[in-house]
Amino acid sequence: MTRRSQAARGRLVLGLETSCDETAAALVGEDGRVAASVVASQAALHSRYGGVVPELAARRHAELLVPVVRAAFDEAGSGWADVAAIAVTRGPGLVGALLVGVAAAKAMAYARGLPLVGVNHLAGHVMAALLGPPEGERAQPAWPAVALVVSGSHTDLLRIAADPDDPSRPGELRRLGATRDDAAGEAFDKVARLLGLGYPGGPAIERAAEEAGPKRAGFALPRPMRREGYDFSFSGLKTAVALLWEEAGRTAAGRGERLRRELAREFQEAVVDVLVEKTMRAADEEGARSVVLSGGVARNGRLRARLAEACAARGLPLAVPPPRYCTDNAAMIALAAHLALARGRRDSLDLDADPDLDFEEGPLAAWA
Ligand code: KG4
Ligand code: ZN
Repeated sequence: MTRRSQAARGRLVLGLETSCDETAAALVGEDGRVAASVVASQAALHSRYGGVVPELAARRHAELLVPVVRAAFDEAGSGWADVAAIAVTRGPGLVGALLVGVAAAKAMAYARGLPLVGVNHLAGHVMAALLGPPEGERAQPAWPAVALVVSGSHTDLLRIAADPDDPSRPGELRRLGATRDDAAGEAFDKVARLLGLGYPGGPAIERAAEEAGPKRAGFALPRPMRREGYDFSFSGLKTAVALLWEEAGRTAAGRGERLRRELAREFQEAVVDVLVEKTMRAADEEGARSVVLSGGVARNGRLRARLAEACAARGLPLAVPPPRYCTDNAAMIALAAHLALARGRRDSLDLDADPDLDFEEGPLAAWA
């Protein structure tokens, strides 16, 4: 290898993500520049079952992963010589699905003699807010930040300090609160299913809510745990929607389209109220210099707008990834690995998938 090609080597991290129903590969530079991000969604495969079928997901990941990696190299116009390391989501997620990505990453790292980094999927969602280049007026987070990660499997409120060695980087992480039952995205998916709105539920609820218009409904839904601590609970809210929908089925008016849309809108309002109120209280009490919003539910236009309004009222920057980096993708996994690599972290070829991998409080780079 010439000196030149050695210098070229080591710029991009190849990230792989197979924790749920998206097969994804990406090539990302240390500055967060995305050279390529390819996501093959399996939504159509799972939609007829109303949710992700783990065995089908794993099999489809195995079919799609190599073509998706090839597509990422094509999109970036790069080859293996440009790759510094391989990053892969090692958990949390569906065990069979995770195993496909982890096995592939280990094989590639071994065959190419490249460092391997296993990434916590949640660290990936937080890091999505730093993917660049910034689009439009998008704010970059300033630390300490309060981060709300809302996805199909998580609802977490986190405090991320500045790294004492480099205040422009994220440092110690502390979890302030989490859901005690359903994740926010899971609640969207369950309510959509019970209202017959299809899967994935988040976008379907958002559309139905828009169609409902602004007129107030003749019922009110609860705001569970609105003023208590930083934990969340969404299963009671889901039950309240289910009861109203069941009751309507027994009345003469029946379950009309109007009620379906109003329930979707009121449910969305209740979830957004709780998420925004708790996030802003945490930002105030924790002395945050910015707020980060990420995860699949961060695609929700109403949540983005309401949180933006609340942050603007306090003069706090709000960092939200562009919609395509809110839902599962591999670019966020690659960027989280850059942070870990810069701190000297490498994983061995014994790396295992861990479906229940939790947050570890401490430096973000350690659990990224
Ligand atoms: O982050 P993600 O792709 O996967 C997990 O790690 O869970 O999040 C998927 C979740 C699903 O529950 C989906 O319904 C929700 O994000 N979601 C939305 C919207 N788009 C996706 N929820 C509310 N509004 C949306 N527009
Ligand atoms: Zn996710």
